[in-house]
Amino acid sequence: MARILVTTSIIFTALSTLVRADIPTGTNGFSLVWGDDFNGGTNTAVNSNNWQFDLGTGYPGGASNWGTGELEINTNDIENCYQDGNGNLRIAPVRDSSGGWTSARIESVRDDFQAPPGGVMAIEAKIQLPNVSGDAAAGYFPAFWMLGTPFRNNYNNWPEVGEFDIMENVNGINKVFGTLHCGNSPGGNCNESNGLGGSLEGAYPPLQEDYHIYRFEWDDGQQELRWYLDGQQFWTVDAATVTEQTWQDFTSHPYFIILNVAIGGGFPSALGGGPTDATESGAPMLVDYVAVYEKEES
Ligand SMILES: *[C@@H]1O[C@H](CO)[C@@H](O)[C@H](O)[C@H]1NC(C)=O
Ligand SMILES: *[C@@H]1O[C@H](CO)[C@@H](O)[C@H](O)[C@H]1NC(C)=O
Repeated sequence: MARILVTTSIIFTALSTLVRADIPTGTNGFSLVWGDDFNGGTNTAVNSNNWQFDLGTGYPGGASNWGTGELEINTNDIENCYQDGNGNLRIAPVRDSSGGWTSARIESVRDDFQAPPGGVMAIEAKIQLPNVSGDAAAGYFPAFWMLGTPFRNNYNNWPEVGEFDIMENVNGINKVFGTLHCGNSPGGNCNESNGLGGSLEGAYPPLQEDYHIYRFEWDDGQQELRWYLDGQQFWTVDAATVTEQTWQDFTSHPYFIILNVAIGGGFPSALGGGPTDATESGAPMLVDYVAVYEKEES
């Protein structure tokens, strides 16, 4: 799914490269409601109270290749998904001896994340994208995103249940994509299967070379969704963009969180293709923390 709709170029100032950072407490009236700082021991699995694995190439009875055409088989092997003992989760796609790929995709066990009535839910993560670019990055497709909870155990009600892509990136380019999926597909209010998306290009240091903060705000009071990179808002969708019914269909229930690194599929294909023989095996996405905040009034 290519989702290249709006592009802005911005040069960012360098962020701190601190690892093992604590989850920030909320600011500006937000309070922390949930998070994971991945501070477990070297080569340990993620906390199973917080995360569950999606295995194989699709949900039971759902679309093949996770609906995107991605090629990897997702596992719960430590090789593909582990805490590094230095305060990070690492999700690494790995090419096997026959040329196939494995990787990992995890979902929050909690699936009750929703903007409080009249208030705001914010979700953010501090992430360094896989440190590959050019030919070595062909086919890399890391993402930090959310799906509407009614998707769980149904798997065939996308996109009306809603999908918030807080961060998507392909092929090691220095550009973040943020997208809302909703309504009907193809077409509909939300321009499916592209969705309604924006992007931001030109972060410094590049997204692959340092940690950056990816944040999404669901503002029920203002009836607005907002996407940020390092505090810079780069995309907004408000209720007036779609019909009242469509807005209600994807905002009337909570969501869960997903972190994954896919390999291949429609989105990388639309921006140059991959994977190829030159694609590097094993470059991990590093996640310092994931956090969810709420504030009662927008
Ligand atoms: C809808 O998607 C098409 C690509 O299929 C794109 O050219 C167009 O700009 C998008 N429109 C909106 C409103 O996002
Ligand atoms: C990223 O990769 C480049 C080239 O291999 C290397 O010089 C650099 O140190 C790496 N940066 C990080 C933060 O891992």
